[in-house]
Amino acid sequence: MSSSETEITSFHQQWTRPHLLGLEELSAEELTLILNQAAELKRQTNQCKTKISLLQGVTIANLFFENSTRTRTSFSLAARRLGADTIDFSSSGSSLSKGETFIDTAKNIEAMGVDLIVVRHRSPGAPHLLAQNVRCGILNAGDGPHEHPTQGLLDIFSIRERLGRIEGLTVALVGDIAFSRTARSNIWGLQKLGAHVILCGPSTLVSRDWEKVGVEVCHDLDSILHRVDVLNLLRIQFERQATRPFPSVHEYAWLYAMNRRRMALAKPDILIMAPGPINRGVELTPDVADGSHSIILDQVTNGVAVRMAALWLIAQRNQELVPSQT
Ligand code: CP
Repeated sequence: MSSSETEITSFHQQWTRPHLLGLEELSAEELTLILNQAAELKRQTNQCKTKISLLQGVTIANLFFENSTRTRTSFSLAARRLGADTIDFSSSGSSLSKGETFIDTAKNIEAMGVDLIVVRHRSPGAPHLLAQNVRCGILNAGDGPHEHPTQGLLDIFSIRERLGRIEGLTVALVGDIAFSRTARSNIWGLQKLGAHVILCGPSTLVSRDWEKVGVEVCHDLDSILHRVDVLNLLRIQFERQATRPFPSVHEYAWLYAMNRRRMALAKPDILIMAPGPINRGVELTPDVADGSHSIILDQVTNGVAVRMAALWLIAQRNQELVPSQT
């Protein structure tokens, strides 16, 4: 075994979880383990561009019951970069329309010889339900407004890659906190790694209750920009809202969109992030989205690295999935 292979395989010896369901339950050590594994796999695959054969013989199913561009493609690519076989399932066009249940669908796909299931679903807890009903390792690719653990990890990875640390940084999550799974995963992960988290947005989308878990809540974006190291601009999740939480998109953009005027109020080295999809002119203007402070596309690249790490660690934990390394 080469020294780099030894480096990769040594991480898994500290990983004990059969599933990745959320960041709320992970310790700072577990988060750091995944981030370090992702950095190593990014290096080993030449910035996520070339293949290695760590998961040869493993079959991974992407079960998406909700739309996705980044997460689905990124998980699929991550699996292939590690040499795994992949199956892509979308609920549209499936036998769900004939009355088959969510669990029966997953069990049937598992019965085709699948080892790991990546699942996205509009209902919070759907991945947890699957974890109780199938033998595969489950990776949560977003469950309603609850958690999106690999998005939280790739956001944190991207900050650490640029700034060299998480501890002591001030990170503001701006926008629709109430309906955002990305916000929740970021809050748990960033806090555990020692960042100060600010939640900023309209009071209808950012509850003061969040102060109970130790984050700062603010409704005035201009007032915090001078002390923020990282700004993560979240999309308004209209599809999850029963009523519109502000009078108009124009008014939201007036108060919370990151634009040239607000960039002038920010720290000179502020990082601009967004999980995507972005709505240009709503969460941020095109000049900011495409400007020199933006690391939005780096986040997408790092998604592949983080997902390679998550797939590898879960597959190793469920050891019979992985061919012997010796
Ligand atoms: N960030 C994110 O989850 O994007 P998709 O919905 O395109 O997967």
